[in-house]
Amino acid sequence: MAARQNGFNLKTESGGSRVHGERRLFSLFLRLDVILDSKLEVCQAALPHLNDMKKMQDSNSAAALIPNKATLENLRAAVRNCHACDLWKNATQAVFGEGKAGAKIMLIGEVPGNQEDIEGKPFVGPAGKLLDAALATAGIDRTEVYVTNTVKHFKFEPRGKRRIHQKPNAAEIAACRPWLDAEIGVVKPQIIVCLGATAAQALMGRDFRVTQHRGEFLQSELAPIVIATVHPSSILRIPDEQAKREEVKRFIADLKKVRKALK
Ligand code: URA
Repeated sequence: MAARQNGFNLKTESGGSRVHGERRLFSLFLRLDVILDSKLEVCQAALPHLNDMKKMQDSNSAAALIPNKATLENLRAAVRNCHACDLWKNATQAVFGEGKAGAKIMLIGEVPGNQEDIEGKPFVGPAGKLLDAALATAGIDRTEVYVTNTVKHFKFEPRGKRRIHQKPNAAEIAACRPWLDAEIGVVKPQIIVCLGATAAQALMGRDFRVTQHRGEFLQSELAPIVIATVHPSSILRIPDEQAKREEVKRFIADLKKVRKALK
């Protein structure tokens, strides 16, 4: 078969036009070039991120992932890629803090629980319900508070169908620390409330004992006031109902002290 190209008739063995074939080949190359170019751009854009991931894994710290100009939005986006310790492997997602920059009170718990891991929000499970009720009784509006955890991924041990909460270890706490420092840096709370020993020791040092310094206004560079109280989960674990009610009252008294200290 013959085809007319620029006044010439060119025949190919298959009967098609050679020029037509060459043009198709040329446009294919052009498209390939564009595709390779765009792939190269994607790779180049991903390179700093991959470097950060490597730095993070090598150093066992989330520090490399903290954006230069941290905001709660970019921190929340960045924490999704955190592999600074191994907890991300079994957790559903990182649970970042909740609340506004500029919140006067920051509450810091230990580690997200089962419900928090599923919902991706801190203190939404049983301990969160107790915390909400205690805050309300103390006259503190939870929506005005910034709530977060010392460690951002759920740590658990599977037991049958249940996932049993585990305490994070020192390496996990240290790996996660840059997130907490960045949150404190952005929120700039007037008062930090450590809920339980994990948060209190992370901020005040390993020798700190909540039993000895509960409810005291502590000196720290992190905020004008730091105070430690019990973790609401520890109250839920008290088997005796009367003793539990007493502990709830003490917990509310600590939170009232926080409210009164606000400027
Ligand atoms: N316990 C915590 O320490 N944090 C949560 O978010 C839930 C339970």
